[in-house]
Amino acid sequence: MTCSPEMDWVPLLVPDMPAPQLLMPWLERMHATRHYSNFGPLVRELESGFASQFALPAEGITTVANATQGLELVLQALELAAGSHVLLPAFTFVATATAVVRAGHVPVLADVDPHSWLLTPEIAHKACREMRIDAVMPVTTFGMPHDMTAWARFEADMGIPVVVDAAAAYGSQWLHGAQGTLVFSLHATKSLPAGEGGLVVSTRPGLASKVRQLSNFGINLDASAGLPVGALASVGTNAKMSEYHAAIGLASLDVWEQHARQRKALHADMVQELSRLADNRLVWQKPGPGGEMMAPTVICMQLPDEQARIALEQQCRQAGITTRRWYQPLLQDMPVLRRECRLLHTPHAEELSRTLLGLPFFLGMSAAQTQRVRESVRQWVAGAH
Ligand SMILES: Cc1ncc(COP(=O)(O)O)c(C=O)c1O
Repeated sequence: MTCSPEMDWVPLLVPDMPAPQLLMPWLERMHATRHYSNFGPLVRELESGFASQFALPAEGITTVANATQGLELVLQALELAAGSHVLLPAFTFVATATAVVRAGHVPVLADVDPHSWLLTPEIAHKACREMRIDAVMPVTTFGMPHDMTAWARFEADMGIPVVVDAAAAYGSQWLHGAQGTLVFSLHATKSLPAGEGGLVVSTRPGLASKVRQLSNFGINLDASAGLPVGALASVGTNAKMSEYHAAIGLASLDVWEQHARQRKALHADMVQELSRLADNRLVWQKPGPGGEMMAPTVICMQLPDEQARIALEQQCRQAGITTRRWYQPLLQDMPVLRRECRLLHTPHAEELSRTLLGLPFFLGMSAAQTQRVRESVRQWVAGAH
């Protein structure tokens, strides 16, 4: 099948945002109080829901405008010395690294595990033997959760703070009673969409409260703090979540479980069907020690080699199917970042950058759309023999 210009392309991703009529009750509540930002009732309701989900006191949670600013402010709140070395995977979205640079530190790019595609505590230990590392920022790659008990052990043994960039892992990454710091994204493309938004969860005493203060310019609002209320306690920014975004987040929360189940089922079906068609020539991300994904938002796999990826991309293009080389180029291959970073040995990340491909995945994919994806994979397999 060849795709003509007027043919409908199968999109890579379609945001799962709540319909206007589902938002209306929340917006009416907001408007009735005339409270539109500055930690209003809806933000507080969303935060108290998160606090009970994570079984943490309210001080252990704060919303922010997005995960990128959440990561940057967590780093600022940790008060590391300027120019600290922050270890992160070479295979991640650019925001993990830009948050480190903007916080005044140096990203140190590490490899990932070849099976889970995660930066693991073992990789971090190895990096610490090679170079001074002052903080670690593992990423929940494509939503795959980490084993937080293992990271808490790393933190305790090494005395190095760990901040998990859990942008894509809402509903999959939990603390399960361990100590830890997590930063989630509530972007429109994530499993709990608020349009834009972020969530910081931390058991580190005072950390989430400090991030909250920094997200409100750094202004002191605590009458018992030994500083006038309204005075600047530190130089922050404006990274508050608005009531409008909280309204979307609350409406999304109402349907989260049902949508997560549907995402998981669609993902499992596609993996099973594509594996069968491809004669097991596709390699999928393996669950790490933190368990499996509860609400996948993308589907991607490793092809046998670079040529195979190019062939499947061409096949998909001809059939009007959008694909994406997720997290590519690698961070070290972008000159703007390369000059800010230190680089360790990253063979598995490099292999992923040559062979990984994302296919369309979204709730509400029609049978015709999934059939077109299957047909392209089938034709790619036929062409490869
Ligand atoms: C790994 C990772 N970190 C950070 C972010 C940034 O999240 P936000 O868009 O909420 O700033 C993303 C966004 O997709 C991401 O995938």
